[in-house]
Amino acid sequence: MRILSGIQPSGSLHLGNYFGMMKKMIEYQEHEDLFCFIANYHAMTSVSDGKALAQGTLEAAANFLALGMDPQKSTFWVQSDLPEVQELSWVLSNFTPMGLLERCHSYKDKVAKGIQANHGLFAYPVLMSADILLFQSDKVPVGKDQKQHVEVTRDIAIKFNNAYGDIFTLPEPEIDENVATVPGLDGQKMSKSYGNTIELFQPEKALRKNIMRIVTDPTPVEDPKNPDTCNVFQIYRLFLDKPGEEALRKRYLAGGTGYGEVKEELFVTVRDFFAPYAEKRQELLDDPDGLRKILSEGRDKARYAASKTLRKVRKKTGLTY
Ligand code: ADP
Ligand code: TRP
Repeated sequence: MRILSGIQPSGSLHLGNYFGMMKKMIEYQEHEDLFCFIANYHAMTSVSDGKALAQGTLEAAANFLALGMDPQKSTFWVQSDLPEVQELSWVLSNFTPMGLLERCHSYKDKVAKGIQANHGLFAYPVLMSADILLFQSDKVPVGKDQKQHVEVTRDIAIKFNNAYGDIFTLPEPEIDENVATVPGLDGQKMSKSYGNTIELFQPEKALRKNIMRIVTDPTPVEDPKNPDTCNVFQIYRLFLDKPGEEALRKRYLAGGTGYGEVKEELFVTVRDFFAPYAEKRQELLDDPDGLRKILSEGRDKARYAASKTLRKVRKKTGLTY
């Protein structure tokens, strides 16, 4: 089965990104045909500093590789290294009703927040459809917020297939309900736009300070506490296996354990969990040319798959004459 997903190279990597998307992608490569890319064209909707985008792209690649993405097992590349996706995006635009894009929550939310409503932001789901359809993806693992974009992709694919025959595979979104939304420091969805994130790769002192800021209720230390409404518990459980989670739940329900104590444990857990990856990440970033070489090999693999689809599309649509 072909599984595909992308991640934008904007901002630092947080626990929501890791547990919501990257961890699962890394696990998939063991038994599925995994396609994974850095969505730097998409990032242009929010980043207009060229140096920052280029550096962010290298960092995003180093993050993924350090956390376990294996370019031998999977196809891993940078979106703009394959401008073919832009050609398909244009073709798909002609099968995208305006109303379909006007209904997208992500677009509406961004505009409501005061972000300039330009064409890039509006057409974002069409480019995402091109990413998905170009590689004939079966499954697209994403967070809840991206589900609608995969549904839009299906609608566009159906319209195209109705006109030209079964060219595109219809993709399914895949959402892991267990970690559907990782909460942030304040209990809202963890997101860089809410300033409530816990970053994976930050200095120890900053990480500790960050974790101590997780919002908790004023229940006294000796009283029983509700794990299901506690932000610390909801984040901590991501790092625990079932028995570990049950043991922590019992401590909450029994009372006598303060939030400060649990936060301290969580800090040590997060720090120790990511420390080996941080080292590997730094090695990769210290050799940017080595990193570029890995990415160019990924580009060649991705191009092979893309060219098969694009050849069919060009022929059917009459672009090849
Ligand atoms: P942000 O909300 O911080 O801007 P992105 O939109 O760049 O994060 O998300 C990148 C990937 O990580 C997407 O697949 C997204 O669905 C997933 N993701 C981001 N935040 C969370 C979260 N809090 N819980 C689960 N998944 C998340
Ligand atoms: N829009 C996705 C996000 O913000 C990133 C993305 C771009 C993507 N193209 C994709 C995800 C194709 C899945 C499939 O997280």
